[in-house]
Amino acid sequence: MYHNQLDSFPENFLWGAASAAYQVEGAWNEDGKGASIWDAFSKIPEKTFEETNGDVAVDHYHHYKEDIAYMKKMGLKAYRFSVSWSRILPQGEGEINEKGLDFYEALIDELLENNIEPILTLYHWDLPLALQKKYEGWESRHMIDAFENYCRILFNRFGKKITYWVTMNEQNVFIPLGYRFAAHPPAVTDLERMYKANHIVNLANAKAICLFHEMVPDGKIGPSYGYGPMYPLTSDPQDVLAAENGEAFNNDWWLDVYCKGRYPRFVMKYLKSLGIAPEVTLEDEKLLKAAKPDFLGINYYHGGTAKQNRIEKPEEEITKQFSKTDPYLMQPKSEQALNPEVPLFNGVENPCLQKTEWGWEIDPVGFRVALRRVQAKYDLPILVTENGLGAQDVLTENLEIHDSYRIEYLKEHLLELRKALTDGVDIIGYCAWSFTDLLSWLNGYKKRYGFVYINRDEHEEKDLRRIPKDSFYWYKKIISKNGESIK
Ligand code: BG6
Repeated sequence: MYHNQLDSFPENFLWGAASAAYQVEGAWNEDGKGASIWDAFSKIPEKTFEETNGDVAVDHYHHYKEDIAYMKKMGLKAYRFSVSWSRILPQGEGEINEKGLDFYEALIDELLENNIEPILTLYHWDLPLALQKKYEGWESRHMIDAFENYCRILFNRFGKKITYWVTMNEQNVFIPLGYRFAAHPPAVTDLERMYKANHIVNLANAKAICLFHEMVPDGKIGPSYGYGPMYPLTSDPQDVLAAENGEAFNNDWWLDVYCKGRYPRFVMKYLKSLGIAPEVTLEDEKLLKAAKPDFLGINYYHGGTAKQNRIEKPEEEITKQFSKTDPYLMQPKSEQALNPEVPLFNGVENPCLQKTEWGWEIDPVGFRVALRRVQAKYDLPILVTENGLGAQDVLTENLEIHDSYRIEYLKEHLLELRKALTDGVDIIGYCAWSFTDLLSWLNGYKKRYGFVYINRDEHEEKDLRRIPKDSFYWYKKIISKNGESIK
């Protein structure tokens, strides 16, 4: 669809930026905080890049006022952050740590005083370690009540101050990485356990949404999903079908549950045939149906490309096509039983797209495709909760960071977002990932995303000084003109 003129961004558009507790806060054991699964996992040798962990991270816990002062200077309208569950409930359940609540209250108040809309994420991967040990984490149905109880505490305390709430961040990432590829805690490689844990997270998500609607009737809540559209490699109908399979397997499997309250038929039937489908009771079905998100959070980085599955169309040297850095694309043929994608589609590189230094495809048009598809399928308002470029920034002798590549990336993505708005997609805001530099779960401090540079690296905390990058001033201008210069 071509437009002679693009629509303006809505007046109250949430120009934002995002972060997550473990990646920014530090203070991992201060003021009564309990350990999380990431506090433990990151200390197992060779699990993270150069053994980095979030013990100090970028010390947002002690620098939050300074960070918010930079947000104000930038004119930021919204800040998405997550709460660390074990800061509130050191054991994951039971006794509340008031100091933890006080920290988030002070952060929220500081945001509100500076006219910045707080967007609170309830779960961004840092499960209390005590719950992992006691119940085996998300594999147990006890977690549904534990999560509900944790959410109740936050709804009760902050329900009047915060409008926008995110339940789960990227369930479609933390579940496979944690239970299939063992790249995240609890480092399991078992598909049956993965689907079971995933189902329990779905139930916890649904329960939290239902509770929220009772307790915070004026608020808005939804999950943040890591969406990437699937493309067919060619117009060969077999490739088109493969992409459909990929879309169903990679996206509908999660999004249908969130938005339609039920699992998609094809994937469920297929997983049942493999004997790895989760057990869904009648009670579960009712709960999933009852929970309706008010918006859908979309994290967009890249999509995927599919060709006909390799059983129907085998080919030589197949492994050459798979990126070694992306666990989603590693599907050795002999392991079909362990890789349910194999009969469905063959994930390949997209020959039309460039990649980042970390091998992630750069696809701004895919962002428009993503927004359009999600709107068409689920018809919910969309809040973009993450989008950004991870790159190695250079601090010059004059203490400047010239990140023109990031500006270019964000500009192109925002242009496609504006086109999607003009197409008719209901987008309420855009949170760039991230506001300050932060700890990348598996890539340390080398892979930077922020508008504000943090002077630290993998080996040294240095002075943790905050230095706005060129992109900071660029985004500030974009916000001040409500995106009019994006064209
Ligand atoms: C998203 C997560 O998956 O991607 C963030 O929600 C994460 O927490 C971001 O940091 C970028 O990923 P990475 O691996 O480049 O840090």
